Amino acid sequence: MPPAHHASSSRPLFLLTLILVAALWYLSGSNPAAKAQAHPPEHKRHQPALVNQANTPPPPREPQPSTRRAFHQRIVALGDVHGDLPAAMSILRRAGLVDLKGHWTGQDAILVQTGDIVDRGPDTIALYRFFQGLRPQAEKAGGALVSLMGNHEMMNYLGDWRYVTKEDIASFGGERNRREALLTGWIGQEWRTNYSITARVPYLVHHFPHDLAAPVLPSTPRGSSDRRFLGDPTFPSSVASGDGKNPFLRAAASFVHGGITPEYLSSLPSSPSFTPIATMNRIGHDILESLLHHPGGVPLSLPRTAPDEQREFWSERGPMWNRDWALEDENEICDRVERACDMLNVRRLVMGHTPRFEGILSRCDGKVLLIDTGISRAYGGAHSSLSLTYTLTPASALPLADALSFSLVALDDPTPDATLAGPDLARTWVETELVEALYTKGRDSETLVRSERVVVVPE
Ligand SMILES: *[C@@H]1O[C@H](CO)[C@@H](O)[C@H](O)[C@H]1NC(C)=O
Repeated sequence: MPPAHHASSSRPLFLLTLILVAALWYLSGSNPAAKAQAHPPEHKRHQPALVNQANTPPPPREPQPSTRRAFHQRIVALGDVHGDLPAAMSILRRAGLVDLKGHWTGQDAILVQTGDIVDRGPDTIALYRFFQGLRPQAEKAGGALVSLMGNHEMMNYLGDWRYVTKEDIASFGGERNRREALLTGWIGQEWRTNYSITARVPYLVHHFPHDLAAPVLPSTPRGSSDRRFLGDPTFPSSVASGDGKNPFLRAAASFVHGGITPEYLSSLPSSPSFTPIATMNRIGHDILESLLHHPGGVPLSLPRTAPDEQREFWSERGPMWNRDWALEDENEICDRVERACDMLNVRRLVMGHTPRFEGILSRCDGKVLLIDTGISRAYGGAHSSLSLTYTLTPASALPLADALSFSLVALDDPTPDATLAGPDLARTWVETELVEALYTKGRDSETLVRSERVVVVPE
């Protein structure tokens, strides 16, 4: 029987192999018992770290030291939400700034809310709590929430409750509690510390092509937690000497609730240096502070003793009520808009206050952006936000032909060829600016402005 014979004759060989394999296994240290003997216990403690190190890929090599990195910045503006928290949340989700729970996911984006959170709808408490919670989350992620006062915030502070709903008052537990919350309580405190009248937000916030071009962003004594945007920056002389369209000098936009006209800017009290942004914020905060100590409770309107600069500020010509940019004929306003942009050193003026239910309106070639679309269910307008996306890419990363097809903004030397060679190339960047209206409920986003150009950093 050949199979049986075969089996019995191979058995010793098979056993020998088994013993050999077992011995090798023991000596190789795969056996836990052998391992425990081979390594003292204190060594064992370090094992997880060693294993981890072996499994993770080696750290990426340090990038070559270079100041020529591409820059990106995103700014989102949200207009009048008037007591509608669900609408505000879905709009911010659409803009990629919050998740389903309302937590910040916008990384280093800057969100500007242009006021009128309160009135017409019932969610006053919920909305202020929401933004109060969002602010530190945005800051922690390297972004920012810039909160502006609307005329309705100021009216509520003054005691003018014309547009307050019954549910709103009930949600505070009655009129007395509401009055207290808005004046000395948590909402009043936040308005005085973390809300402002206007902000000037630059695109180049975190990085700059080179140190000599970096502006000195202001730090104002009062205002929101993000003070960089609430005053008037100063620029290194190399940058400041460039022409008026200098991209390194011009901020993305100024944001305000109503509107800022050149006539109002000219009426501002003069100071040795023209500081319109800081001055408007100072006047607004003076009003908030003065009412805190007003004898006999809230005055319903500006007190009779208020100084002229406060009266002008709170008039229909002032930044909280003005509607010129929304209502006047485009032929009439664009020159004035240009003047306001020059005086504020910004590319665009963004504001809420005057609702247009169909969607965000761009006027004067995108110099004026009206973002109040009647978001609240009290109105039923479009659910919108304005998105500004900026990119600055080293020009060397592009084929020369592409770079030449853009309009060139040379600050010192106007000849295009000269700026794209030698050391000048290292100062040359391609700038892209995209201004979009974003909508919820499946409506397509709309491109309002798209500009690409080559810019040269001054030496
Ligand atoms: C203002 O914002 C800062 C930063 O997020 C926060 O720490 C502070 O509590 C806020 N102030 C008030 C009065 O809510």
